[in-house]
Amino acid sequence: MAHKLFDLSEKVVIVTGGASGIGRVYCEALASCGAKPVIADQNEFLAQQLASDLNARGQSALGLGCDVSNPDSVINMVSAVIKHFGSVHGLVNNAALMSTLPRGPWYEIEQSDWDRVMEVNLRSLFLCSRAVYPHMKKMGGGRIINISSNRIWDGTPNRLHYTTSKAGVVGFTRALSREVGDDNITVNAITPGFTASERQIEFSNPAYVVKMQELNSRKALKRTQIPEDLVGVLLFLLSDASSYITGQTINVDGGAMMH
Ligand SMILES: NC(=O)c1ccc[n+]([C@@H]2O[C@H](COP(=O)([O-])OP(=O)(O)OC[C@H]3O[C@@H](n4cnc5c(N)ncnc54)[C@H](O)[C@@H]3O)[C@@H](O)[C@H]2O)c1
Repeated sequence: MAHKLFDLSEKVVIVTGGASGIGRVYCEALASCGAKPVIADQNEFLAQQLASDLNARGQSALGLGCDVSNPDSVINMVSAVIKHFGSVHGLVNNAALMSTLPRGPWYEIEQSDWDRVMEVNLRSLFLCSRAVYPHMKKMGGGRIINISSNRIWDGTPNRLHYTTSKAGVVGFTRALSREVGDDNITVNAITPGFTASERQIEFSNPAYVVKMQELNSRKALKRTQIPEDLVGVLLFLLSDASSYITGQTINVDGGAMMH
């Protein structure tokens, strides 16, 4: 039996972008530990389908359609969570524009694409955190986890808007952690390496996937990263075991980058 510090049972955790990819794996893991995941995704159909699959297994989940870049949509999502579950313990800011973005030179990025990436990948953190804040404060604390990328340590080129937005996630994490510490809310970030989520593979051309396999040989742990590699650190950051850790960024990439 797990130590009580790691007990997440009955904890309500919103996972944005939880309907597919890595977010889906987070939701399944949370449900299996007795937590109550809220799958908040622009794909309402997939969000509700995952929630009904989890509920059919005797777990407790809620699927909601939400565009995390839209203030009204975010407020409605959090209101629905409070109405359904009565509280919110954790927010995982996971939704992002990434796998569908073309890789290419920085000067070919359209301004409208730059702005949309900032809206979805960065403004959403502000909107979602602001919406859950009064509820976490009322409950006496909470956990906010922001998903960045190990690209920020490397300065990986060819998706300049994406890499820039993910560097912003770390600044947001650090500054917000200082503003909400007195409310017993911790704010941390995770920087995953290239992870073989279904859409990431689908949208990467075969040559790129081969290149990534070559990059595996430069890691301390020489294999392809999978979504399950990120689950342990996520559960840890949501649990009481991490209650004195805040403002930090934890790199999970098999030792590709040393941070
Ligand atoms: N897969 C990787 O290699 C990798 C590496 C580093 C960091 N990350 C980060 O991990 C997170 C998840 O990555 P993934 O590979 O699962 O991505 P993905 O593209 O497979 O899934 C993203 C999810 O977010 C949802 N989404 C997109 N825009 C949204 C919006 N405006 N509102 C609500 N939901 C929205 C999508 O519907 C989808 O379910 C992202 O933040 C990504 O930047 C991924």
